Amino acid sequence: MSNVRWGIVGTGAIAHGVAGDFQFVPGAELAAVASRTPEKAQAFASRHGVPRAFGSYQEMLESDEVDVVYIATPHPHHRDVALKAIDNGKAILVEKAFTATLSGARQVVEAAREKGVFAMEAMWTRFLPVVAAAREVVAWGRIGDVEAVQGDLYSYREFQPDHRLFAKELGGGAILDLGVYVVNFAQAFLGNVKSVDCMTRLFPSGVERAASISLAHTGGGLSSLACGFDGHGPGRMVVIGTKGWIEVEPRFHHPSMITIHRNGVLPRIIEAMPTGRGYSHEFAEVTQRIREGYTESPTMPLDDSLEVMRVLESCLSQAGIYHQEAELGLV
Ligand SMILES: NC(=O)c1ccc[n+]([C@@H]2O[C@H](COP(=O)([O-])OP(=O)(O)OC[C@H]3O[C@@H](n4cnc5c(N)ncnc54)[C@H](OP(=O)(O)O)[C@@H]3O)[C@@H](O)[C@H]2O)c1
Repeated sequence: MSNVRWGIVGTGAIAHGVAGDFQFVPGAELAAVASRTPEKAQAFASRHGVPRAFGSYQEMLESDEVDVVYIATPHPHHRDVALKAIDNGKAILVEKAFTATLSGARQVVEAAREKGVFAMEAMWTRFLPVVAAAREVVAWGRIGDVEAVQGDLYSYREFQPDHRLFAKELGGGAILDLGVYVVNFAQAFLGNVKSVDCMTRLFPSGVERAASISLAHTGGGLSSLACGFDGHGPGRMVVIGTKGWIEVEPRFHHPSMITIHRNGVLPRIIEAMPTGRGYSHEFAEVTQRIREGYTESPTMPLDDSLEVMRVLESCLSQAGIYHQEAELGLV
């Protein structure tokens, strides 16, 4: 069977961060990169040994040289790239947050389902070996029924108004960038959400410095979550059950260790280092699923991404913040 050929869209921080991980993925090859500027595409290709550099997104999305597109642009620039890729029959792996808006996410999901192409949000955390182990510990009933999830993702960043993390038009703010991890984690362990309470502090640019998020899940579970750019925090997550709890050791969005605490039993540690920088696991999932003819990942299904986007949008609307998708004109 021939390799699944990957193409990266956008040559920013995360694109550089993940490029080296394709070498660890059986059946995959990093075949192409696309930038809005030919020079940046060429520089990225030379640095990472990528055979083909496209000087426009559209050119790569319309080419027959890639099978799956990894979308690594700012959040409001995910939707149109995804729609164009889908239109051209390509599978997509879309960086978190899936889109800037719930309606944008729905458009992408509808288009992918209609076309029958594989689509997934790049929520790498769900594929890391110790997170998979935590799910198994829960499935075996080791901590009883899961009742609550508690955790934070604080990541201190100096305010720079033009940077994508702080600029409203680039989807800035802690909720879409960091809140997506804590909400996604809670949704993975406690399921969908029936009510959302969110409190925020804002930057002068009008986006969130920090957010405190309380969720009531439809199954009865409760989540207490926090995220922010204006403080240093452990990035720890705890899954609380009726017979014990699991600590996902910092930083929980790319952990290599969990500790299982059960009443009356010494704590048990499970350790497993991610392969490469940790992105190889999500790339392996996509590569394998595409080869097997799936259109979604059972571990990170599109309905979960839609639910997380719904919760994030509810948090944002409680702060009076409404994002928009960028119109890229990729006709
Ligand atoms: N999974 C993770 O660990 C992780 C970590 C960081 C970021 N992310 C996600 O990845 C996405 C990109 O984040 P990043 O930190 O890589 O951002 P970044 O460094 O700003 O890079 C984004 C890239 O998108 C392209 N782009 C297209 N339109 C743009 C515009 N109007 N303004 C700026 N850039 C534009 C640019 O590439 P060209 O100039 O080549 O077209 C740019 O280099 C975000 O959705 C973010 O949440 C994920």
